[in-house]
Amino acid sequence: MEFRCSNQPLADGACDALGLGLFSNHWQEQLKGLAPAVASTATALLQQREFKAKPGELISLTLPGEHPALLLVAGLGEPENFDGFALRTAAAQLSKASLGSGCKQLGLALPLEGLAPSEAIAALVQGSRLALFKDERFRSAPEPRQEPDVCWLLGVNPEQQGELDHQQAICAGVELARELVGGPPNLVNALSLEATARSLAQEFDLELTVLDEQGCREKGMGAFLAVAQGACVPPRFIHLVIPAQGPALRRVVLIGKGLSFDSGGYNLKTGGSQIELMKFDMGGCGAVLGAARSLASLRPEGLEIHVISATTENMVSAEAIHPGAIITASNGKTIEINNTDAEGRLTLADALVYASALKPDAIVDLATLTGACVVALGDEIAGLWSANDQLADQLIEAGRAAGEPLWRMPLQKSYKDGLKSGLADMKNTGPRPGGAITAALFLQEFVDGQIPWAHLDIAGPVWNEKGKGPDPSGATGFGVRLLVNWCKAIAAGAKEELSLE
Ligand code: BES
Ligand code: MN
Ligand code: ZN
Repeated sequence: MEFRCSNQPLADGACDALGLGLFSNHWQEQLKGLAPAVASTATALLQQREFKAKPGELISLTLPGEHPALLLVAGLGEPENFDGFALRTAAAQLSKASLGSGCKQLGLALPLEGLAPSEAIAALVQGSRLALFKDERFRSAPEPRQEPDVCWLLGVNPEQQGELDHQQAICAGVELARELVGGPPNLVNALSLEATARSLAQEFDLELTVLDEQGCREKGMGAFLAVAQGACVPPRFIHLVIPAQGPALRRVVLIGKGLSFDSGGYNLKTGGSQIELMKFDMGGCGAVLGAARSLASLRPEGLEIHVISATTENMVSAEAIHPGAIITASNGKTIEINNTDAEGRLTLADALVYASALKPDAIVDLATLTGACVVALGDEIAGLWSANDQLADQLIEAGRAAGEPLWRMPLQKSYKDGLKSGLADMKNTGPRPGGAITAALFLQEFVDGQIPWAHLDIAGPVWNEKGKGPDPSGATGFGVRLLVNWCKAIAAGAKEELSLE
């Protein structure tokens, strides 16, 4: 589906289907913007159906005459409660309702006042395109789908067409992440993730370094390799670089946990632990590769972006790491593995050491790290840990604008005691209470303390089990949108600082 802008605020003769968002307190007034005949028919039909314009309410009306033949109406509730997320949701609902109607030109007329133009356009394009995402790759006979050829954003200045294309690039990254995360673990593994990184490198002319097992051993990555040693598929340490457009003013590293499957290892996941969903344990890797796809086409000026993932699977075999084993990470720290199911932090440990050596201005890691974070924040909000207030605030704002909420959690120093080992420098697992916090504290041990670092635990929002909200069920691609927003903000900030000097 193509997106175009039209100055027409409401009715557009070119549309054979029109999607409207109406407020509960004055929807009859809003309809007066339509052609008089259409307005009176629509008002009568909506009254007949006892339309209240409550949030979530959706009515589809077939009208006599050609334009529009189909009128889709979404309730928006009270104007005071209307925000970017409500706009996103309405765009998603109306686009889904247009499917199968046979309409070719869909117009979306939604209120945009009170939102920054770029935020409004993001909500419209992302809301619409990403709601229609459907993964049909694994069906022998995919159901044919009828979607409109063009989605007209009514009331958006045509000068904003560039912003629409920009949003399409962001959506392409989210879709890549969803395909990777939703893909089955027999097809998405360390080797296929390497291939994905390679094709991105080729398509967008990026630099790619991939370390195989030998390469990781040479770097002393004993923590990552301890996880990988039980797997049949050989591990891959992926490092993709999106060079800056123009001189590099800032360098950032995005790290994603890349467990293509997490069985738990010898601390095998038991019933009720969602083992069948543990293909999503590369959700962090999916998010950073998705973000790489978007950012490689957007190329924010002056920003050099490094994307890293230590990819493998956590399996049971005669070779797999034993509970109780002591291993050494690439910064020389020794770790007693008291639970093989706390594997993500081991792979991230070596990735964080590697990232620190790149001397970046900031490091952000994304990981489906702990069930404890899901218990704390549920499946819509990711946990954020950072010792750096500025970085934390930047990420929270990027997430807010993206519709990907983050909640800051504490790096409680005293909880480090929970990771004390009688033999090694630390254990990989602390007590159950505060398990997401000790996981973050564990990671902190592998980051250069001078470099601003943030950890995002995305174990909840990586997956949308029930299909709630604007997006379909399954892999969400969580993280792509907020990472793109954050990178754009960093690039803009660097440029502004330069102009002040
Ligand atoms: N990948 C899991 C975390 C997870 C669990 C994500 C459930 C999404 C849903 C991670 O590797 C893990 O197994 N963590 C353990 C840590 C524990 C052993 C300290 C957990 O959360 O139970
Ligand atoms: Mn695990
Ligand atoms: Zn895991």
